[in-house]
Order: sequence, then C-alpha cells, then structure tokens
Amino acid sequence: MKQIKSLKITTLAENYAFGRGIGQWGLSLLLDLVDAEGEPRKVVFDTGMNREALLHNAEVIKEDFSDVDCVVLSHGHHDHTATTTEIVEASGGVKVYGHPHTFTERVSENREGKRRRIGPPEGQGIGEIEAAGGTVVLTEAPVEVVPGLSTTGEVKRRSFEKGGAPSNGGRWILMVDGEETDDQVLDDLSLWTDVEGVGPWVITGCAHAGPVNMILQVQELSGFDMINGFIGGTHLIGRTDDYVQRSIEEMAKFKPKLISPCHCTGFKATARFWQAFPEEFVLNNSLRIIETGKMPRHRLI
Ligand SMILES: [Fe+2]
Ligand SMILES: [Fe+2]
Repeated sequence: MKQIKSLKITTLAENYAFGRGIGQWGLSLLLDLVDAEGEPRKVVFDTGMNREALLHNAEVIKEDFSDVDCVVLSHGHHDHTATTTEIVEASGGVKVYGHPHTFTERVSENREGKRRRIGPPEGQGIGEIEAAGGTVVLTEAPVEVVPGLSTTGEVKRRSFEKGGAPSNGGRWILMVDGEETDDQVLDDLSLWTDVEGVGPWVITGCAHAGPVNMILQVQELSGFDMINGFIGGTHLIGRTDDYVQRSIEEMAKFKPKLISPCHCTGFKATARFWQAFPEEFVLNNSLRIIETGKMPRHRLI
C-alpha cells in the first residue's frame, strides 16, 4: 500500500479530558490526512458512547463533520458507536465500515448472571444510518478506506493474549440467528497506514484481540518489522501485572517512537506504559492532538 503524506489525529472522545474537552467512557478519533494521492481526507474512527460530550468536543474545535469522507467502526460495542448516525447525517451520507458482527445483538453477563446490552445504542443501527444517507459496508477482509489508510480486517488470535474474554470475569454473548454464542469480539479491527518520512502507524479501538495481535496482523498485511506510532485502546484494563508486562515487552520489540495507549487500557496499564516508554509515551484524552512525526509538547499534560 502506498504511503500517505501526513496524518493528524484529534481525540473526540476518551475517558479523560484535556483543555476544554469533556471526557466519557468511550473512544472516537478524527483522522485528518493527506492521502497517498495527495488528497486531503477526513476519517472518523469510532463514535464514542456519550453523544453530547463528543459533539461538544467537536464544537470546541469547530468540527461540523460536513467534509468527512467515511466512518470506520472498530467494533460493535456501545462505547464506540453512539454518534455514527449523527456524523453520517452531517457528512451528507458516507460509507460506514465495519465487520459482519458490528451491528449484531450482544450482551454482557456478569459473574452473578446479570445481563446488559452492550451493542450499538438505540438509533445507531444499520437502518438509522441508512436513513441518514449512509452506506454500511461490513466485511471480514481488510479495506483500504481512503488511499493509503486501511483496516486490518478480522484479526487472528496468535499471541499469548486472551482475545475477547472480559478481563473482569463473566461472559460476553453474541446473538447469531437467535442462538447465543461466546463473543470473542471478532469484529474488533484497527486502522494502519504508512506515513511518508515517518513510518507505520497502528490505530486501535479496543484491541480486543490484544494489542500484540493487532500489531502482528498489521505486520502480516504490510511486512513492517517496526512501527513508528501506536495510538488507541489496548483492553489491558483489569489484567494482571504479568500480563500487562508481557504485552509491553512484546510491543517494545516493534520499537515505537510514539505510543499513546488510552481508553480501555486502564490507569494501571497506562502508567506501566509510561514507565516502559518514558520518551515515547503521550497521555491521551479528549481533544488531544497528535501529528505523526512530531512529539506533542505536553506529553503528560
Ligand atoms: Fe470494546
Ligand atoms: Fe471500548
């Protein structure tokens, strides 16, 4: 895949806030790039859980989504899918990329057997997105969503990481044709790109396959043996110290120059990343701006 010219990532939704932003449990990243053909592009990766907070943050940076080229949903959890319809409508109707499971009904069952729905919230289904002018594209295969920026497609589970099992115990259930199946969150995909003069970047939603599996998937698709940047969720929240340490050690083999784990990484693992990558770590939060090839001035706020 050809290199893109530049990439700027603005966090529209994240657990914590920066400056005039509002935090929420959820993730949404706005990618401004100059694509492999030299065209300016705007891609929204995930759409948060709290619509009002996300739209507030967008307003602060005067983002009205009118020139968004497409929306990519990392996976069908409610904290990544709550503002898709609104963004599609504001864009005048664009494609929304996901996996065949992204909009499938799913529930979380805790250790006491209590269940709650954790799929896209009301008003954010395929029907509503299409009524807003959008076109929903669901595939297990990688897709080049704009020239030089691609999804990973479905991610193979090949490292020590435990895939989709909830880290706090309990069970995730996916409803397929009325049948309950164990939900390994196979829909969870990432974005990757290669930035001219900078190198490869991996951008994750929750990385339910595990951040190491995500990077290995990008390696298989691209042939990269290092990455310049990593940003996004790692789902290390609730994992043991040993597990977190192992993930960090495996990720360090790819020698990232900028690493910004956020959202479902959780505070403890985020702190461990900071300790492991004191020069490369960038604390992320709502309205954080990261431009590839530049280290933000305030790395820890
Ligand atoms: Fe998730
Ligand atoms: Fe999440």
